[in-house]
Amino acid sequence: MPPTTATPPDPNVNTALPQMKPGHAAVVGLQWGDEGKGKVVDLFTRHFDVVARYNGGANAGHSVEVGDKRYALHLIPSGILHAEKLNVLGNGVVVDPEQVVKEITGLREQGLTIGDNFLISERAHVVLPYHKAQDQLQEAAYVVPNALDQSVEGIGTTGRGIGPCYADKALRSTAVRVADLLDFDALQHQLHRIVPIKNATLAALAHYAGEEFTPFEVDALLAWLTPLADQLTPHIADTGALLHERIDAGQRVLFEGANATLLDIDHGTYPYVTSSNCSSLGVHPGTGVAGHHVPNVIGIVKAYQTRVGGGPMPTELHDEVGDRIREVGREFGTTTGRPRRCGWLDLVALKYTARISGATGLAIMLLDVLAGLYELKVCTAYEIDGKTTERFPATPGALGKAKPKLETLPGFAEPVDTARRWDELPEHARGYLGFIEGFVGVPVVMASVGPRRDQTIVR
Ligand code: GDP
Ligand code: IMO
Ligand code: MG
Repeated sequence: MPPTTATPPDPNVNTALPQMKPGHAAVVGLQWGDEGKGKVVDLFTRHFDVVARYNGGANAGHSVEVGDKRYALHLIPSGILHAEKLNVLGNGVVVDPEQVVKEITGLREQGLTIGDNFLISERAHVVLPYHKAQDQLQEAAYVVPNALDQSVEGIGTTGRGIGPCYADKALRSTAVRVADLLDFDALQHQLHRIVPIKNATLAALAHYAGEEFTPFEVDALLAWLTPLADQLTPHIADTGALLHERIDAGQRVLFEGANATLLDIDHGTYPYVTSSNCSSLGVHPGTGVAGHHVPNVIGIVKAYQTRVGGGPMPTELHDEVGDRIREVGREFGTTTGRPRRCGWLDLVALKYTARISGATGLAIMLLDVLAGLYELKVCTAYEIDGKTTERFPATPGALGKAKPKLETLPGFAEPVDTARRWDELPEHARGYLGFIEGFVGVPVVMASVGPRRDQTIVR
């Protein structure tokens, strides 16, 4: 049976790709996540042959809205709505087998085709239930009061086992890779070594945190894993080799980032980050495709700032404007349902992340959410210890002290959700976008004025 696309072409959708160089492209978040990467990947996919996720795991939540249908993707790439395209989870992804199977089942129920159009790297790492337990216990243990600190803030992870799985990847002896799911005899031996170590570690953490802990049993883990591995086996492949074959054959690859550049383990707001290179720098280790192949990096940016979890956020608003943005922008996490912290657009942070990720174009999302605000503010510098700086600080201490210098721009009263062309945007909306590109030094190539595919303006 030929693959079917769940969504027939819609004449109202602007299917043009923003101007970019020939060749491959990456879609990367430039803030603290949830910028709308899923929507952009879905829109771009028709121009590419392969969509490849390079980092993260089920901590990500990418929503794609088509008509009245909403698809929530955590691990499956956002190109999956186009059944004829290949969707790949690269080696840099941490794969929760239960979540992938759940997602495949749910998406099939929503009418999508998932078969040999979805592949998982045999080199990717597997998130197991003890990783999730460790994630939660580690957070609980970290915030236990002591003689010096009665209260501290945890990382505020999604609890999806991401950090512990990447930590095991780095430790090696306690890691399980996707390829290991193909040899259950060897896996059984491996788990008999790993699980006692995990139980010892987790029991100590639980004891310290004052939490309950039931040790994991190898037989139960294997019984749980067997049907999942059976379902995933047809999707497991050497995706690095396949990507290169496709590239050599002249096909075009779209790399999908999860999480975002301010959450990058090396360049983000450490330690309040995730455990992978979510900037575009992660494309290469996370898929095995070298840097010179990817001349286009589209940086995805909300028209304002949001953050979920702990860590400093200089432009956070604790007033009715922040509440309004949260309400109008439906700023509640796709993965955990947590309310997102909201604030004015932080251009100091954006200029920094655009540089780290090498953005060649910006897509400004959720512009519609700002409609009706009398004035708009953007942060163009920080004041730290009485000194003004445009440099993004490296430590949470410095960023926590940063007072935003806000520039006020005129707002736009009119709704913009029906605009489909640049010149249909109100003058002050265009002025706002122009200010962003002028400050950051990267062109705005796209504006999004609503969650649906058709609510998109390609410049
Ligand atoms: P991602 O993690 O970067 O893929 O972003 P999420 O899907 O977690 O969060 C973005 C949310 O904003 C989703 O609910 C999208 O459907 C929605 N969205 C995307 N673009 C727009 C837009 O231009 N306007 C509005 N109002 N919502 C949008
Ligand atoms: P998408 O792809 C928003 C945040 C968590 C937490 C920190 C560490 O949907 O944009 P982790 O579970 O990764 O150890 O959590 O990172 N975080 C995200 N915030 N969007 C995401 O992904 C995120 N992925 C991780 O809230 O603060
Ligand atoms: Mg998200």
